[in-house]
Amino acid sequence: MNILTVREIQQSDIPKITYYWVNSKPDFLVHMGVDLSKIPTPESLSSILAEQLVQDYDKKGAYCMIWLLNDEPIGHSNVNKINFGKDASMHLHLWDANFRDRGYGVDFVKMSLPYFFDNLQLENIYSEPHAQNLSPNKTLEKVGFTLVDTYITMPGWINYDQPVNRWEMSREVFERTIKYGALQKTVIDA
Ligand SMILES: CC(C)(COP(=O)(O)OP(=O)(O)OC[C@H]1O[C@@H](n2cnc3c(N)ncnc32)[C@H](O)[C@@H]1OP(=O)(O)O)[C@@H](O)C(=O)NCCC(=O)NCCS
Repeated sequence: MNILTVREIQQSDIPKITYYWVNSKPDFLVHMGVDLSKIPTPESLSSILAEQLVQDYDKKGAYCMIWLLNDEPIGHSNVNKINFGKDASMHLHLWDANFRDRGYGVDFVKMSLPYFFDNLQLENIYSEPHAQNLSPNKTLEKVGFTLVDTYITMPGWINYDQPVNRWEMSREVFERTIKYGALQKTVIDA
């Protein structure tokens, strides 16, 4: 039996997130839309992540939820481009390929959304994965996001220009479909 939970980022998570960005295979990062020349140094990544630990919700530039399998961190979801009270851009990452494509991503996103919507008082969350990166596109659709556009942009400061799918979820849809679901998920592996 596996238990999936989420919690806010802590200091002890920072080396794991940094490791993911610095040590993931170049092919994987490029497929995800990352410009390898823009990946910050581990020191700079650590200090960017540490900043949000001490910021109030209405001052955060980024807000990260850690995804845990049986209490062990295995990934994260963060929002950035935060307009407190309005909208933010969401990203999804399971750090180890062994934990991908098992259905965890959908459940982790559903468990993370209440933190983003409620603590940042958002009206809308959007996510812009590379249009050819199938896993996040499928996950967002399964969670209940709506595809509103496909266009070329540089979706984040570590990306290159790329075709993205823009997925959105409004507070209204979130409250109607996800908010009152269970916040802890138990998965019985077959
Ligand atoms: C994006 C991510 C968090 C999704 O989590 P996940 O646990 O792998 O996804 P799920 O198992 O919940 O799958 C959701 C759907 O995507 C499909 N899927 C997952 N990985 C896939 C892949 N590599 N290729 C095609 N479809 C895939 C699943 O089959 C499922 O669809 P289905 O139910 O119709 O079969 C995870 O795959 C990941 O971390 N990927 C690498 C990082 C990344 O690309 N992040 C996006 C940056 S915005």
